[in-house]
Amino acid sequence: MIEFSHAYKVYSGTTSPIHALKDINLRIEKGEFVFLTGPSGAGKTTLFKLLSAYDRPTSGKICVSGFDVNQMTSQQIPYFRRHLGVVYQDFRLLRQRTVFENVALPLEIRRERSRYIKARVEEVLEQVSLFHKRNEYPNQLSGGEQQRASIARALIHHPNVLLADEPTGNLDPELAREIVAIFDKINAQGTTVFIATHDHELVKSRSRRTIELKDGAIV
Ligand SMILES: Nc1ncnc2c1ncn2[C@@H]1O[C@H](COP(=O)(O)OP(=O)(O)O)[C@@H](O)[C@H]1O
Ligand SMILES: [Mg+2]
Repeated sequence: MIEFSHAYKVYSGTTSPIHALKDINLRIEKGEFVFLTGPSGAGKTTLFKLLSAYDRPTSGKICVSGFDVNQMTSQQIPYFRRHLGVVYQDFRLLRQRTVFENVALPLEIRRERSRYIKARVEEVLEQVSLFHKRNEYPNQLSGGEQQRASIARALIHHPNVLLADEPTGNLDPELAREIVAIFDKINAQGTTVFIATHDHELVKSRSRRTIELKDGAIV
């Protein structure tokens, strides 16, 4: 489902090259729930960028959902990304759109019929317990609610894999647990969940597979 073989990423830094990922080998099966941990600068975001085809490895091979990520043409990338849902630390909601409109946006871009959009958006908002806030704007919501809206938007395409990069980084511990409980629920329905976090307390509180990065290498 997700496989890295001998993946390397080198950024050309201002003075010397930065070896952000070194010989990454990992395999995540469909339906797994995995944490990616490691201190700031360890390479977590870089690994997610390679996984979601926002950047290319310097060498090595990455396969996701049957796609060889490095071999894809630019026409294939948007189609590939529908297999992924991505959640970020800073939510990335559009301020001038309601919760409903934010979550609906990916389907509008795909020109889905409005009746389908309404039904599907309501379904994912129910899943994250945010249906009652569907007509509010992001700045009318708490941090935890904004993150739930961004999770709903990530789920809108029925992704095989949900990637979350520091999804609880802007939340206090109680809201962080609430968000992880939502990821558990999504995972229980069959979606592969892969969460990057430097929050060791959060990882320790769950008995889940953990991949630890340090200085760009798996420890
Ligand atoms: N676009 C970039 N150009 C140059 N260096 C980068 C770039 N992105 C990340 N880095 C460097 O790569 C290393 C890993 O960064 P990152 O993947 O963001 O780590 P993490 O998400 O674990 O904090 C760091 O040393 C960072 O400074
Ligand atoms: Mg990061």
